[in-house]
Amino acid sequence: MAQWLKNAIFYEIYPQSFYDSNGDGIGDFNGITKKLDYIKSLGCNAIWMNPCYDSPFKDAGYDVRDYKKVAERYGTEQDLLNLFSEVHKRDMHIILDLVPGHTSEEHAWFTESKKAERNEYSDRYIWTSWWLEGGDGLNFVAGESPRDGAYILNFFKCQPALNYGFLKPEKPWQKPMDDPACLATREAIYDIICFWLDKGCDGFRVDMADSLIKRDDENKSGTIKVWQDILGRVHRKYPEAAFVSEWGRPEQSIPAGFDMDFLLDWWGSGYKLLAREYSDHNGGEDNSYFRKGAKSGSAEKFLKDYMDLYEKTKGKGAIALITGNHDTPRLQPNLDNDDVKLFFAFFFTMPGTPFMYYGDEIGMHYIDNMPTKEGGYSRTGTRTPMQWSNTENAGFSTAEGNKLYLPVDKRNLAEINVETQEQDDNSLLNTFRKITAFRHSEPELNDYENLELLSHEPLVYKRGSIVMAVNPTGVDKKYKLNNKPAGNVLFSLGDASLENDEIMLPAGSYIAVR
Ligand code: NOJ
Repeated sequence: MAQWLKNAIFYEIYPQSFYDSNGDGIGDFNGITKKLDYIKSLGCNAIWMNPCYDSPFKDAGYDVRDYKKVAERYGTEQDLLNLFSEVHKRDMHIILDLVPGHTSEEHAWFTESKKAERNEYSDRYIWTSWWLEGGDGLNFVAGESPRDGAYILNFFKCQPALNYGFLKPEKPWQKPMDDPACLATREAIYDIICFWLDKGCDGFRVDMADSLIKRDDENKSGTIKVWQDILGRVHRKYPEAAFVSEWGRPEQSIPAGFDMDFLLDWWGSGYKLLAREYSDHNGGEDNSYFRKGAKSGSAEKFLKDYMDLYEKTKGKGAIALITGNHDTPRLQPNLDNDDVKLFFAFFFTMPGTPFMYYGDEIGMHYIDNMPTKEGGYSRTGTRTPMQWSNTENAGFSTAEGNKLYLPVDKRNLAEINVETQEQDDNSLLNTFRKITAFRHSEPELNDYENLELLSHEPLVYKRGSIVMAVNPTGVDKKYKLNNKPAGNVLFSLGDASLENDEIMLPAGSYIAVR
């Protein structure tokens, strides 16, 4: 595993919405470069940037038209290389987003693949044998190409699935995984990875990493094999390159060769119960564990799921906890600042590599019912411009308001912006800084293998010699320690305290003691 990951805290940047340096209304590479000192000041020393490649942007760039060309709207390749070097100058790292499961329907490979005449790219995508055949249970599109056949989709209609073969091919069009065409797809992805690592990026977040082999991929054994091959070679050549998978099953993705895997709310994992336990964030009942007012929130399922995955992957890879991402609703407004402070304190003191989604550090709000932008749909409300200051465009851009990529959220701009929160020692922003400073100051918090869960309720956990406890509920709690600690309170929020061998956890508090 890449050594630098041990003490990494990531910051996720949706480049469209972070900082517009040239006044055209959309964020760009130079804008990110300008804000690197800010990111570093948060205690974040690594960046994950969403796709920045040439794309028709029907899925915000997850529809790649050319993997080796940057999207003009973000700047030039030189600007990106400059961003890499400015990141490294600051002793930080940056990973790009790799989309291996599909391309845009406008990718040159697909243009070739659609042709009636056979060519090098005919089998780069999964095509059925003839136009009315159906997709054997997979989503498909027919009727759009000179070629006789339908193509299989990986996500939206604009995203045809790349062909890595089938673990158990049954139809004539389902090729075995070792078919030369399927091996050529692997090579193409390997080549793209090397291309960007050679240019200076430090690794990749891998989109839908579990999606390579379709149908009957028992326990993902086929997909795991493909990654073991690709990442095995990559790691030999670039031992310090880091790979984080969007997979949500670390027990599969870590053996596949990933360094870490996002814990997502797919597969019913308890992650969702912590901060997004509602069926409708628009006024429906919310029982998130970190919501003070929740009638019946509980961390129990999360802890059970987490500990299970943790035990299975401990020593081999890491679980990446995210505050949210460009696909999830934001934490606020369902949680309030005090809830979120406790959520951060918990997340950023757990093992593994934590990820902060841009804007969550100042408590930006999710916006309901925004018109969709670039295939965002309900996710659009999570992707609005970063709020730098209480000014017309929130300091995001100098363009006319109606030229912005997405409108700025003006509803609570006076409080929810970086400039204002910088001045308040107790703001969410400055509290987050204190939490990351605490994490960085204690080497035991960078050790992946020292977690012990002491209690579900109140939630008490131990990392080496540090005992931590959190009480996000509206009711006071206490916890009696087995051994009397030395009595050092290392960090606390709310009015938590240590009285002899008892941790006092009033409603809405957090404490770390040694
Ligand atoms: C997951 C990405 O996070 C999401 O934004 C995208 O739409 C799909 N994968 C398809 O690439």
